[in-house]
Amino acid sequence: MPTYKIAPSILSADFARLGEEVRNVVSAGADVIHFDVMDNHYVPNLTIGPLVCQAIRPHVQVPIDVHLMVKPVDRIIPDFAKAGANIISFHPEASEHLDRTLQLIRDNGCKAGLVFNPGTPLHFLDHVMDKLDLILIMSVNPGFGGQSFIPEALHKIAQVRRKIDESGRDILLEVDGGIKIDNIAAAAAAGADMFVAGSAIFGQPDYKAVIDAMRAQLASV
Ligand code: DX5
Ligand code: ZN
Repeated sequence: MPTYKIAPSILSADFARLGEEVRNVVSAGADVIHFDVMDNHYVPNLTIGPLVCQAIRPHVQVPIDVHLMVKPVDRIIPDFAKAGANIISFHPEASEHLDRTLQLIRDNGCKAGLVFNPGTPLHFLDHVMDKLDLILIMSVNPGFGGQSFIPEALHKIAQVRRKIDESGRDILLEVDGGIKIDNIAAAAAAGADMFVAGSAIFGQPDYKAVIDAMRAQLASV
């Protein structure tokens, strides 16, 4: 069985109490904190930047997984690395030079990830597998929490799983958008091993109950 990782997205947390929120969700069993960065340009919403990453960093020991939904990408990468990010991923449409951006992330000491929107083809993976630590498949269109899971994402996850296995590389396969207790097992069965969940966790009063229920589902895969 793969080592599954649950990555709560703080997009649905109470931003007025963010330190407490991340501590609580890690105590409840989160493996990673997923940090959604939106710029009101690449996506139609505006969220949080490196200062907020730096502010939550001392509150948790787990990796911070920065999901950049910004364009351009490169200028902000060193800022997030300095702010304590461990993984930085970006969308291929938002970078003019994929290979350079991936290298820039690694040069700044972070793991590098590429993110695929529901309509983005996988050919962007073709020549950069050796520069990837993570591939993120979006199961909603980026920009907002609380949207419904797009089932076609399961086929895409399965395709990426085959590519990763063929490559023989140690690359995490993350899924993001609309993940709930009742569909996490399907995403795992398709081949995902890291699961972002925002509204499913922060929208509930008992984070541990949700994370435990997700793990129980994953144990059945
Ligand atoms: C969407 C973000 C997601 C989102 C997940 O653009 O990348 O991380 O916050 O939220 P839920 O789990 O509510 O779909
Ligand atoms: Zn995200």
